[in-house]
Amino acid sequence: MVETIRHDILIVGSGLAGLRAAIEAARSSNGKLDIAVITKVQAMRSHSVSAEGGTAAVLYPELGDSLESHAFDTVKGSDYLADQDAVERFVSAMPGEIYQLDHWGLPWSRREDGRIAQRWFGGYSYPRATYAEDKVGFFEMQTLYDTATKYDNIHFYQEWFVTSILAEAGEFRGFSAIEMKTGTFAQLLGKAGIMATGGSGRLYSFATYAYSSTPDGMAAAYRAGIPLKDMEFIQFHPSGLIPSGILITEAVRGEGGVLLNKDGDRFMKKYAPNKLDLASRDVVSRGMMTEIEEGRGFKDEATGLDYLHLDLTPIGAEKIKTRLSQIREIAIKFRGIDPVEKPLPVRPVCHYVMGGIDVNIDGATRLKGLWAAGEAACVSINGANRLGANSTAECLVWGKITGAEAAKYAEGRPRPDSAGEKVQLEEKRIFDGIFHGSGATNPYEIRDALQKVMAKDAFVYRTGDGLAEALRTIRELKAKDFLHVEDKSRTYNTNLSDVLEVESMLDVAEVVVAGALARTESRGAHARRDFPARDDGNWMKHTLAFRGPEGPRLEYSAVAVTKYQPTERHY
Ligand code: FUM
Repeated sequence: MVETIRHDILIVGSGLAGLRAAIEAARSSNGKLDIAVITKVQAMRSHSVSAEGGTAAVLYPELGDSLESHAFDTVKGSDYLADQDAVERFVSAMPGEIYQLDHWGLPWSRREDGRIAQRWFGGYSYPRATYAEDKVGFFEMQTLYDTATKYDNIHFYQEWFVTSILAEAGEFRGFSAIEMKTGTFAQLLGKAGIMATGGSGRLYSFATYAYSSTPDGMAAAYRAGIPLKDMEFIQFHPSGLIPSGILITEAVRGEGGVLLNKDGDRFMKKYAPNKLDLASRDVVSRGMMTEIEEGRGFKDEATGLDYLHLDLTPIGAEKIKTRLSQIREIAIKFRGIDPVEKPLPVRPVCHYVMGGIDVNIDGATRLKGLWAAGEAACVSINGANRLGANSTAECLVWGKITGAEAAKYAEGRPRPDSAGEKVQLEEKRIFDGIFHGSGATNPYEIRDALQKVMAKDAFVYRTGDGLAEALRTIRELKAKDFLHVEDKSRTYNTNLSDVLEVESMLDVAEVVVAGALARTESRGAHARRDFPARDDGNWMKHTLAFRGPEGPRLEYSAVAVTKYQPTERHY
């Protein structure tokens, strides 16, 4: 039985992008449109809540910052793969978003003169990361969630797992979804949709991401015929806390913390003599892996993981306790180390996916009536490497843009009556195929094997041989009979949602690795040992992966260059 639910705009995902989109759609339609936010978690458990260090914006041109400087830093950080028209739109919109959140009640940290405080982040030429202690994501989420609940025309479907995009005659019709509490299978029909489902960092087990950050949304778009763009560019943040990878914010280095090798040497002077520990993340993570591979790291006995030291003591106890109190708490609780006294063990950790669902500068996908925003989407302002503090910012800017665009599109259009027969096929696939299915292979072993191969062959440094091996492994894993569940209950069947997640992880991992294997150059976060140089002649282009019968089919599209011609990067 398929239940039918109707709204005007359907937003999947309740992180910063999804909430910002919902508020804008509600606001700009003056209460005329009925909006649903569908999320597989409780809204305040969306991964955005764990953003720590800052949101980039130009607030103080009179003190030397400028939109031009923010744009240039972003393009340089992207290793010249960002679309520069999108970057210009982004930096212009950001100051307004900071003040908008301020007016909605976000308690930004303040300077002594009472104005909003900002600090240094990697790759910037001005300290423009706006912050609220080291809990930026939490305060932004709380402010947006609070604001969204004030609108009577925003409805939340929390703990609903979206399984597919429904379309007919080339137009968006809605989504199929499972209500986790009851196991009810439903079609949610709407005039317009927005994918704000976040990143896919759980392709790696050592990750800063929530366990829920699997690529279900990206995979749904890919299966619906929408290409994924630039997926080979995965960001490894320099400081994941050993043993599990919890984020130690870059703000630590912005406030004066330093990276040290086992000889106590501040090794970043070799790799980025000007910016040192505050170079862009791709540069710092490569420096760290080189130190480790050349024997100047430490080894964690319990996990076997290599690491380096992040020393916070130069910051001083007072600043650590006031500006980085959450980091101190995390270090004490999860590692038993007080960073006021001793360095923390860290290593590069999967933190962000530069690629995503292919969209235009307005966030529109190739499916009429469907938009995407935030980490799920690739506009692209991040190119081959995102600068810290630009991600929460991007969620706000394209949350607002897509909310407004979807509302404009939906106003005056009729609601769809049905979504055709795809929803019945989807119900059959999930309930006849997986829920009642059987098989010898344990899906959790498939997930572990996938994460292992991604960590081995699609990490900071890559080679053609390693990537080819990873692609073979992923295809072998896909072919195994893991699409079944032990748990036959309809109530909170996380076994079923786990299996659906693993299926999505395999599809998207295949895209990541196929794109990385094809890209025979090094650019930003994609560093090939066998092709160590950037190759603008052949590779200054976006990768588009379309789903084909044999796996991803790759095409390429041009990068928008407005002002900044590519040059060699130095930090
Ligand atoms: O280090 C951090 O606080 C991360 C910020 C970001 O990825 O934007």
